[in-house]
Amino acid sequence: MFGNTFGRLFRVTTCGESYGGGLAVIADGVPAGIRLTNEMIQEELDKRKPGQSELDSPRKEADIAKIFAGIGQEGLTTGAPVGIIVHNVDMHAIHVEQYRKVKHLFRPGHAEYTFFVKYGEHYDWCGAGRASGRETVGRVAGGAVAKQVLLRENIEVLAYVKESFGIKARDMGFDEVKKNYRKNPLNCPDLAAAEKMIAKILKIKEEGDTCGGVVEIIARGVPAGLGEPVFDKLSATIAHGLMSIGAVKGVEIGAGFGVARLKGSECNDPPYIKNGQIRFRTNNAGGFLGGITNGEDLVIRMAVKPTPTISIAQDSIDKSTMKEERLAAITRRDVTICPRIYPVAEAMVRIAVLDALFMWKGWEALQKKS
Ligand SMILES: Cc1cc2nc3c(=O)[nH]c(=O)nc-3n(C[C@H](O)[C@H](O)[C@H](O)COP(=O)(O)O)c2cc1C
Repeated sequence: MFGNTFGRLFRVTTCGESYGGGLAVIADGVPAGIRLTNEMIQEELDKRKPGQSELDSPRKEADIAKIFAGIGQEGLTTGAPVGIIVHNVDMHAIHVEQYRKVKHLFRPGHAEYTFFVKYGEHYDWCGAGRASGRETVGRVAGGAVAKQVLLRENIEVLAYVKESFGIKARDMGFDEVKKNYRKNPLNCPDLAAAEKMIAKILKIKEEGDTCGGVVEIIARGVPAGLGEPVFDKLSATIAHGLMSIGAVKGVEIGAGFGVARLKGSECNDPPYIKNGQIRFRTNNAGGFLGGITNGEDLVIRMAVKPTPTISIAQDSIDKSTMKEERLAAITRRDVTICPRIYPVAEAMVRIAVLDALFMWKGWEALQKKS
């Protein structure tokens, strides 16, 4: 299996599966002298862990983070790779049996067919292996390391649920989102819309079905100049990071797909001067021009599909007999992935921004010498 590393200078490498011993991340390129504690990693993992409300999978994982490498006696990073491990604990014979019983079937909406094509009979059939939502534990732990470096640069990243099964939150800026951050189990800062969203999700749950939504990510304080002009546009790297999360089916920047319905005069993001600084009027560009940051808030949205595991019977195939079958799932699942995925989105954006910041700072320092 390839592709378990994301980033070029600040790099995270993850390993671990849903029903293995645990999940780990190695973060490479962490500057020396950063205060990094288990609690800082835990704060981010606690946002993502399952079993926090009726919307989540009932799987009970404490997701306790242990930093095992890269920290000196004073609790500061040493410049060596930072290693973090989280053990899986809530795995019982009954759960393994539930997966064993259907291991001959390709579960609709899951990655089993493609894993079978690539890895043959030995692919991990228990709890979706590397395709499981648990894979994202390593990403969140790696993103928590990036967060500590970014905070020193006054860069903040927040994500929240903007839409759930067609119910939309009203438009809100960074400050309002921050004020109402994590005020309800869905993490939708429009508190009135959140109530409607949650009621609808619980109704869908009663039907044995699932639903999806839209998560918006806003990054504040990102300086102008991050990203490279051609293949490594920061907007493209962020899209890569977000699209690599399971269940994410689309990414938009700024006005996103809406640009297709605007005139140039409406879509353009004209520059103006505020307090002697160059700013941009509409932020339809979502903080990017030519894929390079322009100093405005980065505004990115991702579409999250409904959880594929549903209790309603659907078509499947028995791979041992090559006969068509029906499958109604009984395994644990999130009724919506949105309240579990926003911390993963924050992590991927942090990692991409920090990586680009390293490139920009290095380039800038050498360019100034010539
Ligand atoms: C944080 C997170 C939690 C998830 N929880 C579940 C779940 O409980 N049940 C499920 O069927 N899929 C869940 N998924 C989605 C599957 O991992 C994903 O849909 C599947 O591997 C197929 O990949 P694809 O949707 O990208 O094609 C979760 C994904 C993430 C990122």
